Amino acid sequence: MQNNLKKKILNYDIYFDKTGVLFIEQTKTIVLADLHFGKAKSLNLSGFQIPPYDIKETLYKLKKVIEIYKPRRVITLGDNFHDRFSILNMNNQEIIELNKITETVDFKWVTGNHDKKLFSKDKIGGKFFNSFQENDLSFKHIKSKDNSKDSFEFSGHFHPKTIIKINNSSYSYKCFVVSRDFCILPSFGHFTGGIDVKSKVFSDIIDKNTFLIILGKTKIAQQKVI
Ligand SMILES: [Fe+2]
Repeated sequence: MQNNLKKKILNYDIYFDKTGVLFIEQTKTIVLADLHFGKAKSLNLSGFQIPPYDIKETLYKLKKVIEIYKPRRVITLGDNFHDRFSILNMNNQEIIELNKITETVDFKWVTGNHDKKLFSKDKIGGKFFNSFQENDLSFKHIKSKDNSKDSFEFSGHFHPKTIIKINNSSYSYKCFVVSRDFCILPSFGHFTGGIDVKSKVFSDIIDKNTFLIILGKTKIAQQKVI
């Protein structure tokens, strides 16, 4: 089974991992987007009969990728928590498990539209930012309309996925959307959906330089969109 796909972006060696994170070798940084911690709990509290266990699953996945890549730093790209009450709704064990992770690495939370007005941030380790820039790499929640040509931008927000037809069946896969100066990451959270890259939302984003890194069950494939 293929676990990642390595690509050179600017002068960085980047591993696109099957879980939806990417690892920047030179800075030992894991980047991931749209954890949406507490989404199932939030829907459950709103009356939807959904098992509220997504936090545990997402924490488990996060712990596993940290064990594999042993990063110095983790940067999340926003929508880390599903709504402003998500930390308040986490139980003690979930808070302890999350803080075990934020204590082991330099943990940077970039804020998204879902967690702009988050309550009880002080219960959680790590540092909160609106966006983050280091040398020629920038990290934010929503892709800039016009990125500076001198830097490469990582963002989340759109939860990209692609639909592949095989015989008469359609299969949906999460994917990275990568172009000359940006990469949109798939959602990492256990209970998060996705938007088809062929939908209108992506029509202003995707051009002939854009390709997808598709996260299949056993294989990671690169594919042009146009
Ligand atoms: Fe999101």
